Amino acid sequence: MDGLPDLGLNRAHTARVYNYFLGGKDQYDLDKYAAEQVIAAFPHVRTAARNNRAFLVRYARYLALSGVDQFLDLGCGIPHEPNLHQTVQEVNPGARVVYVDNDPIVGAHARALLVGTPQGRTAFIEADLTDPDSILTAPALADTLDLTRPVGVSLGAVLHFFGDERAYEIVAALRRRLPPGSYLGLSHATGDFDEAGTAAVVKVYRDHGIEVHLRTRDEVAPFVTGLELLNPGIVPAHRWPDNGEEQPPGEGVASLAAHLDAQVSLYAGVGRIPQVHR
Ligand SMILES: C[S@@+](CC[C@H](N)C(=O)[O-])C[C@H]1O[C@@H](n2cnc3c(N)ncnc32)[C@H](O)[C@@H]1O
Repeated sequence: MDGLPDLGLNRAHTARVYNYFLGGKDQYDLDKYAAEQVIAAFPHVRTAARNNRAFLVRYARYLALSGVDQFLDLGCGIPHEPNLHQTVQEVNPGARVVYVDNDPIVGAHARALLVGTPQGRTAFIEADLTDPDSILTAPALADTLDLTRPVGVSLGAVLHFFGDERAYEIVAALRRRLPPGSYLGLSHATGDFDEAGTAAVVKVYRDHGIEVHLRTRDEVAPFVTGLELLNPGIVPAHRWPDNGEEQPPGEGVASLAAHLDAQVSLYAGVGRIPQVHR
């Protein structure tokens, strides 16, 4: 109907399908149907989603402990605790967070739930990542973040919804526009550890009209090439540790982690925009 936002209720939506994997309640029948089909194709997807969230929490906490006090969560998804502002405001109650997503349903939940400390500040911008400039020049962003100082950017499980040209362009634009010292932390689906299982997931999404682009480690690397790559580099998300330093796991832990690589099937990496050149 004219004048009303398109809430996309006649098709499955990535945000709501993902919310189902996390045990959230914010889906419609089509989303649940698609999510159950994904679970049938790749039974570990809930483990993957949980480990993705856990990586994002470790990353945000690491940055907050390192003194970063402003954050931009791109493709933030339906709120799920702990949300980014909860993680970073626990370390620094004055931390500020801007959430961005293009799904109006995410927006409705985010505006209601993503409210932080009185000292800090949060904002939600409904915008499309294909136009990074519209996000970086949005008045709500300027009201909340100071783009002359480093920002911690989170790109959790979102870049694989874009084809190559778009995905690399989005990150290049962010790298050009964000101040030196800013961090780019991302997670990204890969077929490197379970080619058949992840291809089956891609097919389910495609059948529901959603394109997913799995990328190898070598294809994920260019997102952070030229940045100061934090240890341990680009690794399966559950292997990106608390303090950004590689920790040699014990024998039992090592085999468990290897088993998890295929279940998680997401790479994670964090790069820092250098002070001198980009
Ligand atoms: C799989 S969820 C990930 C949520 C969260 N970042 C996380 O990792 O837990 C992907 C999110 O990206 C959002 N998204 C997908 N395409 C987008 C676009 N073009 N612009 C903005 N957000 C987008 C979806 O609406 C969804 O909320």
